Amino acid sequence: MRAAFASAASPDQPLTALTVGEVPDPTPPEGWVSVEVRAASLNHHDLWSLRGVGLAADRLPMILGCDAAGVTPEGDEVVIYPVVPDDGDPRGMSLLSERFAGTLAERVAVPRDNLVPKPAGLSFLEAACLPTAWLTAFHMLTTRGRIESGSSVLVQGAGGGVATAAVVLAVAMGKRVYATSRDPGKREKIAALGAVAVEPGARLPERVDVVIESVGEPTFAHSMKCAAAGARIVVCGATGGHLPRVDLRRLFAMRLELLGSVMGTLPELVDLMAFLIDKDIRPIIDATYGFSAVADAFAHLAQGEIFGKVTLDFQH
Ligand SMILES: NC(=O)c1ccc[n+]([C@@H]2O[C@H](COP(=O)([O-])OP(=O)(O)OC[C@H]3O[C@@H](n4cnc5c(N)ncnc54)[C@H](OP(=O)(O)O)[C@@H]3O)[C@@H](O)[C@H]2O)c1
Repeated sequence: MRAAFASAASPDQPLTALTVGEVPDPTPPEGWVSVEVRAASLNHHDLWSLRGVGLAADRLPMILGCDAAGVTPEGDEVVIYPVVPDDGDPRGMSLLSERFAGTLAERVAVPRDNLVPKPAGLSFLEAACLPTAWLTAFHMLTTRGRIESGSSVLVQGAGGGVATAAVVLAVAMGKRVYATSRDPGKREKIAALGAVAVEPGARLPERVDVVIESVGEPTFAHSMKCAAAGARIVVCGATGGHLPRVDLRRLFAMRLELLGSVMGTLPELVDLMAFLIDKDIRPIIDATYGFSAVADAFAHLAQGEIFGKVTLDFQH
């Protein structure tokens, strides 16, 4: 079968570590099943893997990809929940493509327990956007950020997959949403989604109850300043650097909660899909490539000019 995999670790030029080629079909162990992939989406996680972050050299070559929707041998249309139990990992879990082969292949083996029925109202491409970026944003807003008790949200670096999801979800939840982006064109698109788009570091008209942080060092001081008393600053990533200075005086004086967040649960993925159908919202797809152009899709993601998700259509 065709697959896209990391064949090396290249910290500075991740695209040079990407190989596309033929690999053997998976042989699922007991309790696992081989899913025919119809659509997948890329995540920044795939670029980290190509840089060697979170993917040790002794696991190479490794098929990339966390997200996919496809069809089981029985003909069921499914979305794959990508968090797999993993005794060999200190977290007790890993994401597909960290220890077990990922979704950027014509077939992927996953535990049967990780299959979620794809709602008929979502296309394969839309469904393939959800398991990592959208689930992470949903979990950050709800379970970690406790958004139901707040009225305002700030999303930093709003052009990316997680961040556009957070904007769309928070607007649909009826919250006042502020979002930063470095790019004026992206700010226009954010405003069209119903958020107030501002330049990074700009003063907001109010302090917010929840901050969605996936950028890290470049935006972290602003996140702290914009947080209202008792606010939750929820961090899932550090695309721009993971060692920001933290103003501890502000942290304790404002009773801020600084919360780490990883993915979400399988029931949350089910809830997220029901929420999308109920509110009639869909993932924002920046671009779709046929699988034969997967290297171009990676180049597009790496360029950093995306707004939303980059998806792969396996039927082209
Ligand atoms: N913990 C988890 O479970 C989890 C799950 C998903 C993702 N993540 C992490 O979250 C991060 C985002 O993932 P993603 O897939 O959404 O990435 P993405 O689609 O590539 O988006 C990255 C966004 O970050 C912003 N950004 C990047 N560098 C920046 C900088 N130096 N200064 C300001 N903004 C910067 C950009 O926003 P603008 O261009 O609009 O400024 C960009 O759109 C990644 O680090 C990823 O590893 C973690």
